Amino acid sequence: MQGFRASILRFTDDAIPVFDVDGLLVVGPSGTGVSMVLAVGDHGSLAPRFPGLAVQDLRGRIIAPGFVDMHVHYPQTDVIGAPAAGLLPWLEDYTYPHESRFHEPAYASEVAVIFFDELLRQGVTTALTFATSHVASVNAAFDEARSRGLRFITGKVLQDRHSPDGVRDETEQSLIDTEALIRRWHGVDRLGYAITPRFAPTSTPEQLRGAGALAAKYADVWIQSHVAENLDEVRWANELFPQSRSYLGVYGDFGLLRQRAVYAHCIHLDAEDRAQMARTGAVAAVSPTSNLFLGSGFFDYLAADAAGMRYGLASDVGGGTSFSPFHTMLAAYYVGRENQTKPGLSLSPGQLWWQHTAGAARALGLEGVVGNLQPGCEADFVVLDPNATPLLARKTSQANSLDELLFALIVLGDDRVVVQTVVAGG
Ligand code: GUN
Ligand code: ZN
Repeated sequence: MQGFRASILRFTDDAIPVFDVDGLLVVGPSGTGVSMVLAVGDHGSLAPRFPGLAVQDLRGRIIAPGFVDMHVHYPQTDVIGAPAAGLLPWLEDYTYPHESRFHEPAYASEVAVIFFDELLRQGVTTALTFATSHVASVNAAFDEARSRGLRFITGKVLQDRHSPDGVRDETEQSLIDTEALIRRWHGVDRLGYAITPRFAPTSTPEQLRGAGALAAKYADVWIQSHVAENLDEVRWANELFPQSRSYLGVYGDFGLLRQRAVYAHCIHLDAEDRAQMARTGAVAAVSPTSNLFLGSGFFDYLAADAAGMRYGLASDVGGGTSFSPFHTMLAAYYVGRENQTKPGLSLSPGQLWWQHTAGAARALGLEGVVGNLQPGCEADFVVLDPNATPLLARKTSQANSLDELLFALIVLGDDRVVVQTVVAGG
């Protein structure tokens, strides 16, 4: 058992931030072998319950839940900042050629190491991640995440058409490989598998049907894909699947909308699409830096809330421009400002932070497991320095409320704020 004394940020079940200025976090082993939060709260009232506890004194610092990135492509670590007119040329000109290199296990492992180094440096402790269409890319990521003790989800990309040589897979083999990977990795330590059709335009109906059959057979496995990101993409999907009501409807028609199904972007949806997501339990991975970089559009927060859809934040690297949750939260704030039904919408800092921690975990079906620091959560957390830069020190010292403190960190923060990332208490 181990204690940490610092200011502590966590969230209630209703997404309200709770802040203990002089807090104590107590972590220790659990039945599963993963260290978890045993107690958390005000130091003065909690400390007497733990006489003799070894306490690391981090006063002046803020302990907060490790961030959860709901959608990122580890093989696109080196694709960040590739300029293109929009999504489809960006895929053709930069992304597919780069991803074709991941058939090579040594290369995949090399990039996986850099990817996890970067995630942890930025304070991200759980990610739902695309690999590539190559089995080697999945094994490399799982091997690396496992050796670091991370809660981590990935899967082999399915793309059996409209994809160049080097990344295109073969329908039947892709489904055999997916099932073998589920059996090999899902539920091993803290790892989870995600059935990963790239997006409807690059899968045949047969491949999507097979993916849906696997999703029905393995109900606690995740599903991840992209939807309604870009207007050209939406037109293309509608042309290829004229019998479906909408682009999102394609996934529904193949049994790919359910709990634990995570769709990146969800920008160009209509009211029936949003209602279908809410009804089925499928969720959105909101990827604001990517949407701004690729000129895709703006996620409609108010329409999502009105429909009762769940969502959380994501970097979407390499369409996204940063691994930093601070950059992503700030970009989400800008996107809120562009809201269609209420121009100038001002998302609160607590809401933004929740979307990248407990809210993202809830959307992934991992509420009470990661993304929060309530008792019973796995002990993944970050230690933040509110004085990391001269300007941040000035700004945080003048904060008169928790909102002002969190906003200062969101607007001025980056990797310099993250002084330590703790995985499973150690
Ligand atoms: N749609 C299909 N593939 C991709 C991808 O790799 N990135 C993004 N942003 N959108 C996609
Ligand atoms: Zn993506």
